[in-house]
Amino acid sequence: MEKQIVGEKAAQFVKDGMVIGLGTGSTVFYTIQKLGLLVKQGLSIKGIPTSFQTERLAKENGIPLANFHEIEQIDIAIDGADEVNPELDLIKGGGGALLREKIIARAARTFIVVADTSKMVDRLGTFQLPVEVIPFGYEMTEKHIRSLGSDLHIRIVNGQAFKTDNGNYIFDCNFPNITNPKQLEQDLNMIPGVVENGLFVGMADIVITLDIEKNIVIK
Ligand code: 5RP
Repeated sequence: MEKQIVGEKAAQFVKDGMVIGLGTGSTVFYTIQKLGLLVKQGLSIKGIPTSFQTERLAKENGIPLANFHEIEQIDIAIDGADEVNPELDLIKGGGGALLREKIIARAARTFIVVADTSKMVDRLGTFQLPVEVIPFGYEMTEKHIRSLGSDLHIRIVNGQAFKTDNGNYIFDCNFPNITNPKQLEQDLNMIPGVVENGLFVGMADIVITLDIEKNIVIK
């Protein structure tokens, strides 16, 4: 229910003619459903999906899609998060779509995050940080990530190493109490083999969540 409230609220920021980055996950699912309804009522938008899953969902909901070469800019990207701290820094990638999500969030003029109350934290790091790595030499990449102080495991789904839409693996990394998210984001991305990590620092412009009385709060 919380996910539906915040997810649908984000659709109010979308205006006719906009190009919208469509995030991945069970919260932005409601944004996409709502946008589909608005499109049926005459709203003209184009969506850029952050995953194959979202591409399917957008098509099912009748949202026209665009390719990067067809557009000049992304007006708004809307996406969920796994954790949001008071500075609006994020951990993302629980759904394994962090690389495309970060590319699209960075390209958007406004990045809106939809987050139920369970996602709001004082400090990032309880949720394991997803790090996308290329399969080649991933054993070496793992050692380098461990040297930054993390315990980690490769993500397994249905008994097999999970592969992202980009054909890469995900390491779920235990960095409890991330005191300097920007530094960690940079340190991880300096490791050869790391493609991207789920720290989104200084990227969110707006976070839509709820207060303890379940009123919508826009930060
Ligand atoms: C996917 C993501 C999601 O936005 C994040 O995992 C939140 O998902 P949900 O809205 O299902 O809780 O980063 O890679």
